[in-house]
Amino acid sequence: MQEHIQAATAQRQHRLAIEQLGPEDHDRIAAHFLTLSDDDRQLRFRCAADADWIGRYVAQLDFARQTLLALVAPDGSVAGLLQICRFRTAGGRCAELAFSVDPAHRGRGLGHRLMALALAHAQTVGIGRLATEVAPANRPMRAVLEAAGMEFTREDDDLIGTLAVVTQPVRLAA
Ligand SMILES: CC(C)(COP(=O)(O)OP(=O)(O)OC[C@H]1O[C@@H](n2cnc3c(N)ncnc32)[C@H](O)[C@@H]1OP(=O)(O)O)[C@@H](O)C(=O)NCCC(=O)NCCS
Repeated sequence: MQEHIQAATAQRQHRLAIEQLGPEDHDRIAAHFLTLSDDDRQLRFRCAADADWIGRYVAQLDFARQTLLALVAPDGSVAGLLQICRFRTAGGRCAELAFSVDPAHRGRGLGHRLMALALAHAQTVGIGRLATEVAPANRPMRAVLEAAGMEFTREDDDLIGTLAVVTQPVRLAA
């Protein structure tokens, strides 16, 4: 019976909503980043990000150039966050991706779900290429990116993953 209740609770916890976050979600975004360990913060932000640093980072997010998509638990907390930073190159519209999943929600496919959201978003708004910077030792992140078909090149101590987005041609009814 106890196991039954635990399984039902776990299932409920994984009914996550997809939400686009904005400046009004400052506190929820910061609270999510604060769930990350020191090592996670190093992988995510490339620095030893303490609470003050995270507060400043979230305050300066430019929502005109970035899209933040969240997987949100029933209590409103952010279980997983995808940051999509758009930019242009001579070759067209691109975006850099950054991922984070609350340690309490790891290993259940949220990283893969965020990557699927990135692809769907890119196809919808016409982004032709996705890129992510990842530390070679970051096996979980690499597993997610590799599963999506990203290809890696080495740049200094990092790997740069890139993926050309295949856009579906729109079929118009005759
Ligand atoms: C990377 C991160 C987003 C993955 O989130 P997650 O929800 O646990 O990811 P998933 O459950 O979708 O999948 C994780 C994959 O990594 C694999 N994995 C997990 N731990 C691993 C390990 N120690 N070694 C090798 N692979 C590992 C899993 O097997 C899974 O791959 P599979 O589906 O092919 O089996 C999460 O670990 C995180 O937030 N890390 C800290 C921030 C960070 O590193 N961000 C990346 C820089 S942008």
